[in-house]
Amino acid sequence: MKKRIYIFTGKGGVGKTSVAAAHAVKSAKEGYRTMLVSTDMAHNLGDLFEKKLGKEPESIAKNLCVYEIDPEYVMENDFEDMVKSLGKMLPQDAGTNLADYGMFPGMEELFALLKINEIYQSDNYDRIFVDCAPTGETLSLLKFPELLSWYMEKLFPVGKVAVRILSPIAKQFYKVELPNRAAMSDIEKLYLKLYDLQELLKNREVTSVRLVTVPEKMVVEETKRNYMYMNLYNYNVDGLYINRLLPKDVRNPFFDEWLKIQSNYKQQLYESFAALPIYEIPWYDEEVRGMKAVYRICNDALTTEDIFDTKEITQRESFEQTKDGYLLKLSLPFADKSEVDLFQSESEIVVKIGNFKRNIPLPNVLRSFAVTSGKMEEGTLLVEFERFGGQKDEL
Ligand SMILES: Nc1ncnc2c1ncn2[C@@H]1O[C@H](COP(=O)(O)OP(=O)(O)O)[C@@H](O)[C@H]1O
Ligand SMILES: [Mg+2]
Repeated sequence: MKKRIYIFTGKGGVGKTSVAAAHAVKSAKEGYRTMLVSTDMAHNLGDLFEKKLGKEPESIAKNLCVYEIDPEYVMENDFEDMVKSLGKMLPQDAGTNLADYGMFPGMEELFALLKINEIYQSDNYDRIFVDCAPTGETLSLLKFPELLSWYMEKLFPVGKVAVRILSPIAKQFYKVELPNRAAMSDIEKLYLKLYDLQELLKNREVTSVRLVTVPEKMVVEETKRNYMYMNLYNYNVDGLYINRLLPKDVRNPFFDEWLKIQSNYKQQLYESFAALPIYEIPWYDEEVRGMKAVYRICNDALTTEDIFDTKEITQRESFEQTKDGYLLKLSLPFADKSEVDLFQSESEIVVKIGNFKRNIPLPNVLRSFAVTSGKMEEGTLLVEFERFGGQKDEL
């Protein structure tokens, strides 16, 4: 059996925690060894299950463990050596709290993700459900492993000669102490862990990202952006949950307008996300608290048999050979042509949208190729490469 990870993301308050919990409860009921873990600093799994939770995973029902990750605790207990080595490299005047360092924003959450990787590798669980912080934070978190390993490659190429050559420059420009030999191996370990983490989270057979939304203008807009960015970073989104749908037969004139608004945005969501499986969750007459309330979601919305299956909706980025050169295809649903910027350097191509950018390493064969055109076509970015000077590729 393939072990799986499910990441629930969406704007604050839309129902991520409730929906993630419902999946976990259902999964445990089916007999799978299930872990529900929260990386949101404002934890509320304890509230949800009406249990006081500690700093370690806790079993709360048959097959069901819940775990509110405390990143500081994890950094001290599980990654002490690495954190120390990183500390040595960072600017001296930056205080003692690693999370303060500008060079590694979001560092604490990163260790929370590394912890999830450990849980996955432990083989103690079949399914891990991740209840995330609101969209913005989650996005920066999910792009982080890639970003950080990119930094590390630039600063500490995993070849020691390069490190020596880089050293004086790195010191000057980045105000960092390069690690000594012993520390270097910790840095290398961290690098490898980050690499593993990326591979795991972007492995479409392992990790599913699920979007939670409500039928309201701002949230719908944000959900589309979120979907685009998830694609930019190559995550496999394979489900959309529309939460808080008013019952159609609600008989109170106060809700007449709200029913119209909801039906309008619900329709928009169905049109925009036609490719995704969509699940509807009613607006309940109570908060989602306690097992019974969680079961309401299971019974109302998580009824399809393939709910836990991974589905390939968009494609991972690819380089294809064409008549004149190569074509890079990157799925970017809802991206507007005018907001996508492309840059090429010797070893990578940079795709920038708003505040987000992705550095896509170029395959070696493309080092002597230049970008000749870039366009958006039906939610896919197409970038053409031709050999410098338009010569034919002769081997
Ligand atoms: N379908 C629903 N009906 C009624 N209350 C809901 C529903 N979904 C979520 N809630 C309540 O809304 C609040 C926010 O939900 P939560 O799952 O914590 O959202 P998030 O994790 O996205 O911030 C909670 O108090 C929860 O009990
Ligand atoms: Mg939450």
